[in-house]
Amino acid sequence: MIGIEKLYIENFKSYRNYSLSLDNKYKHIVIYGHNGIGKTNLIDSFSFFSNSKGLRGSSLDTILPKNQTSNITTKIRMIVQSDRNILNFSLQINKEDNKFKKTLLLDNKKISLSNIKNYIKIIWLSPYMDKIMYEGQTLKRNFLDKMIMQNDSYFNKIILNNKKDIAERFHILKTIKDTKWLDVIEKKIAKDFYDIFNIRRKYAEEMNSIICSKLKKFREIKIKYKNTFFDDLIDKDRLLDLFINELRKNREIDEITKRTNFSINSDEVNIVDKKNNINIEACSTGEQKITLLTIILANCWKLKKDNSKFILLLDEATSHIDRSNFGKLFDEVDKFDTQIWYTGTNKSLFQVIENKGFFIHLQ
Ligand SMILES: Nc1ncnc2c1ncn2[C@@H]1O[C@H](COP(=O)(O)OP(=O)(O)OP(=O)(O)O)[C@@H](O)[C@H]1O
Ligand SMILES: [Mg+2]
Repeated sequence: MIGIEKLYIENFKSYRNYSLSLDNKYKHIVIYGHNGIGKTNLIDSFSFFSNSKGLRGSSLDTILPKNQTSNITTKIRMIVQSDRNILNFSLQINKEDNKFKKTLLLDNKKISLSNIKNYIKIIWLSPYMDKIMYEGQTLKRNFLDKMIMQNDSYFNKIILNNKKDIAERFHILKTIKDTKWLDVIEKKIAKDFYDIFNIRRKYAEEMNSIICSKLKKFREIKIKYKNTFFDDLIDKDRLLDLFINELRKNREIDEITKRTNFSINSDEVNIVDKKNNINIEACSTGEQKITLLTIILANCWKLKKDNSKFILLLDEATSHIDRSNFGKLFDEVDKFDTQIWYTGTNKSLFQVIENKGFFIHLQ
């Protein structure tokens, strides 16, 4: 079992000085209280150990408590119990010479955000993610890409390299237009495109097979990537030539439009609800939320399979979800040997958790 045992929050949004001790005999932690009381802020605070912007995507200048002098320090400390080890993580943010300085520590030694993931991954569902299912392609693709990055540091690396190479190609197109140099960089870009397309499809396949074997009772959905440039990735050499040609052909138009017209964004993500056999965009709001949860849960199974430790934050998971489906969600998350945090406005929403949970009433 992995979970937070103690949490200290100083000068973070609506929190001036707050501490919380949790009883590790409970893995389900429920925070309830009225709108605006600080439920999301509480879990948002330690989501900064996973992501530089937390679960709400907040920039650092919005996290200092309002009406405070600007030279105060934000401190977040979480003491995590992981099997029998105690891990003491702390984050300190302060402003120096008008610049934010951020320090992350594990047991008083500096640690990077990416290294923290080797000890604990923080996975969440928040209301800000609802739109992923009903809005366009970009959000879905980015959401899945982020999940792949969590599992696969190589994918992370090629996405970053690819961004750098694309920036370099633009620079050459804008300045010296050296065709030999362009040929070299486009060959590199094409290879990374191929790898990215390939890893995405393998991940979708793995997710689909996990959903089929583990989450059938919850919701059966299927994730499929589509691309107008190819049907499959079997013939690597032919595809590399095709990508290189496409990049070469687009040099002029890319320079004029200031965008790479053929890129990894040519992938479309199709998510189909197998029960209704309809695309997720056409599903009901509750069905869309359950679909999002299905993907998150499938990813949790993958993390479990890869022996990665994680905790799960479910901010307002009960909204748009009926009692029966929330019951099913609880049955699914209860299968993981990890801490799960829930927020909601009312204790009665969590009846199904009852004496299995640690309830915190914020007021
Ligand atoms: N930098 C800040 N300084 C002070 N207060 C802030 C800051 N940022 C946000 N807040 C306030 O914190 C309060 C709590 O917000 P939070 O999102 O945690 O509420 P909540 O309990 O999750 O409410 P809901 O049930 O509506 O989701 C809000 O009133 C918000 O305006
Ligand atoms: Mg909230």
